[in-house]
This record gives sequence, C-alpha cells and structure tokens, in this order.
Amino acid sequence: MSFVNDLSSSFSIFLHHLHVMYTFTQNLELMRIDILTVVPELLESPLNHSIIQRAKDKGVVEIHIHNIRDFSEDKHNKVDDYAFSGGAGMVMRLEPVVKAIEHLTNQRKYDEIIFTTPDGEQFEQKTANTLSLKENIIILCGHYKGIDQRIRDHFITKEISIGDFVLTGGELAAAVITDSVVRLIPGAMNDETSALTDSFQDNLLSPPIYTRPAEFRGWKVPEILLSGDHKKIEQWQEEQAYLRTKKLRPDLLDE
Ligand code: ADE
Repeated sequence: MSFVNDLSSSFSIFLHHLHVMYTFTQNLELMRIDILTVVPELLESPLNHSIIQRAKDKGVVEIHIHNIRDFSEDKHNKVDDYAFSGGAGMVMRLEPVVKAIEHLTNQRKYDEIIFTTPDGEQFEQKTANTLSLKENIIILCGHYKGIDQRIRDHFITKEISIGDFVLTGGELAAAVITDSVVRLIPGAMNDETSALTDSFQDNLLSPPIYTRPAEFRGWKVPEILLSGDHKKIEQWQEEQAYLRTKKLRPDLLDE
C-alpha cells in the first residue's frame, strides 16, 4: 500500500512540476500562504531568512502574516475571553478570527485552512509534500487555552500538530510547517533535486555526508567517496541510508 502511495505521490509531484513550468512561463506566483496570529513578531525571524527569504525574493511564494487583533471590533483589541465552562485559561474569541478568515476567503479561493494545535494530525514529510502542491493556504495559529470550537467546526479543513508536546502557541508550529513546505516548491532551492533526496522522502534517513579536508586529526573520509566512481558511491550511499535507518528508525522500514 505504501508503495502505491509513494508512486501516486511521485506522480503528483511530476504533474506539479509540469504545472510549475507553465506557471513560470506565465510569471505567476506558485503559492500563497496567509498566516493568522495574535503574535506576528514570533513569525518574523524564521520566515525572513535563508531559503524562505530567497524563495520570496524569487517570487515562488508569497507569505502574508496578519495580526488577528486588527480584526477585533473591541476598543481594546481584545481577542480572548473566559471559557463558558469556567476553569483556568483564556479562549480565543470567535468574531475576530472569523473576520480575519473571511477577509481572505472573500478575495480568493483557499485549498486548505489549517489550524495548528497539539490535538491535530501529526505533521510528516508526506503532509509537507501534499501541501507544497497547493496554491493558496491559510494557517491559523492557536493560542491561549484554545479557540472557540465553532471556528474549528465551520472553517478549518485540516488540524496539524508538529509533535506530542505543548508549545505556548501555534506560531512556531506554523513556522515549521511553512519552512518545510516552501523548501519543496520547485525553484525555492538552488539544487532542486536536493529536496527529493531528503531524509524521509523514501522512508529512509539520509546517508552520512562529508566535505574537505579528507583527513582531520587522523579521522578519514570513507575511501569510496574519494574514488570518483559515481555508481559505486551511489550504491554505498543507498546501503548507508538503509543501515542508518535500520539502526536509528527501524519503524520507517515497516511502513
Ligand atoms: N500549539 C501548541 N502546541 C502545538 C503543537 N505541538 N503542534 C501544533 N500546534 C501547537
């Protein structure tokens, strides 16, 4: 089953590449990500550097960060309130979030409206692959004790957790998701094949990697890598990837 999934995932990536080539010739943006948050400052640094910044500069992605407070009609820009059930912790209010989402959905069609939350589905490389094929997505960052359930019931199409631990808010999770998705968009990285050889893309961890010098304090780079025999090097890498996965993540080999 997983072989069939891998095949269909490779095929959709192939189709996407065709779409991308067309889009490039038309000079269109490939993807638009809108992030809704009550703490926009938390997202500034992670999304304004390195590959993500370069992808934005090249025009392969647009990332817009919106402050939910700007959509509050309350004179103090209040975005949270007490839970009807009582108990500790504030709840994100319905109205500003709905206004923010509808402000966006009135302008264009969105493929997914994602909510970052520890009780969502576990984020994996496969999720990143699928999301990188979308055109427009919204990521709503959870905050406080949670958001009014009616937002989840009526607007959210996908709920994502980045792991079984609790962060102070969904912003870092949104940054993680955005980072892993944007680097997969063709044109985001200089060497496009590099994303396809990442750990997890074929349920294998990456093999060990080395650079110069070939010897440091007597620690030598494996001989085969200096041989110049590309076929043998590729075989060695495949074998090492398998051995490393078997040792560190045997669960991946069962999938
Ligand atoms: N918000 C708080 N914890 C989170 C997690 N683990 N994943 C996604 N969003 C979160």
